Amino acid sequence: MKGLKPLVLLFLLLLLFVGGMLVFFWSAGTESRAGQPMKVGVFVYDMSDPFMATMIDSLNLLADDAATGSDRRFYFNVNDAKLSQTAQNRQIERCLALDYDVLCVNLVDRTSAAYVIDKAMEADVPVVFFNREPVEADMEKWERIYYVGTDAAMNGTMEGQIVVDTYQADPDAIDKNGDGAVQYIMIEGEFRHQDAVLRTKASVQTILEAGIRLEKLDGGIANWSREEATVLASGYFDRYGTQIELILCNNDDMALGVLDAVAEIGLDFSNVVGVNGNQECLAAINEQKMLGTVVIDAPAHAELIFDVTCALLDGSDPQQLISNMTDDRIVRAPMYTVTKTGTQ
Ligand code: BGC
Repeated sequence: MKGLKPLVLLFLLLLLFVGGMLVFFWSAGTESRAGQPMKVGVFVYDMSDPFMATMIDSLNLLADDAATGSDRRFYFNVNDAKLSQTAQNRQIERCLALDYDVLCVNLVDRTSAAYVIDKAMEADVPVVFFNREPVEADMEKWERIYYVGTDAAMNGTMEGQIVVDTYQADPDAIDKNGDGAVQYIMIEGEFRHQDAVLRTKASVQTILEAGIRLEKLDGGIANWSREEATVLASGYFDRYGTQIELILCNNDDMALGVLDAVAEIGLDFSNVVGVNGNQECLAAINEQKMLGTVVIDAPAHAELIFDVTCALLDGSDPQQLISNMTDDRIVRAPMYTVTKTGTQ
């Protein structure tokens, strides 16, 4: 019996030690949990797209600014899908497994939103889609999904209006051969991207509705890319030469691609219009190398994405806080045109 006493004592001491360690680790765990930053996963279809890169730079700046001098702590984790929806799905799944608080998703394939929505719903994590709009049926799947983008049909209308205004002020500026019709080329963004489809349709419609006759010489898809547009435009200039009176582009990068071809061939041609408001395009317009653009403002998109995200992190209802948000939880960035003759 006597020999047992030190053993019991040792056992009790061990019990106390283990208990103490458990309490220590448990409380340390809850403390760091409470102090942890809010985690936002940002998923981009392709960071080599200049429009997306500008938007993400602005988003990062907003997150840094908001964190400076406040006790608010965010962690914005940007993931580049490099054009692979499968890769993006994996990135999203990983962040959901790591308890992210909000997902901001720029889909690679906008028709794949359902998969992302289902995963987010399972984890009860809200999603802010941006720039690549899920189809309506997907937006209706859950009340905790949002979309930030541009009004693409309006972009196209305004792009067409740049041509109409120029033509009405001086028909010869566009209808160079004076045959009463404008021979044009259409350079489109990505196949099935809502911005490409709607801009193409609305720009042409606006010009026709103003009573200007249009004759399409040719057109092609350049996937929003400057390099692809240069290749297309070089081919068109080769084939149609001075017959080309106007080149409508779905975005500014492709317009810059056309200007690269113009410079390379050494042509005097500036009837090129785009959409976005890239700094380089604004400079080209200023130098009269391009007709105009519709500024849809990547930083303004970033601000809206940030505001919706912050509302969600705060547990507020974005529909109450964001003035232009529609009942179907969509908010569109403001836009304006810049032309050779000024800003409207
Ligand atoms: C922009 C393009 C961009 C595309 C990406 C469009 O709204 O105008 O420049 O490449 O979005 O999805």
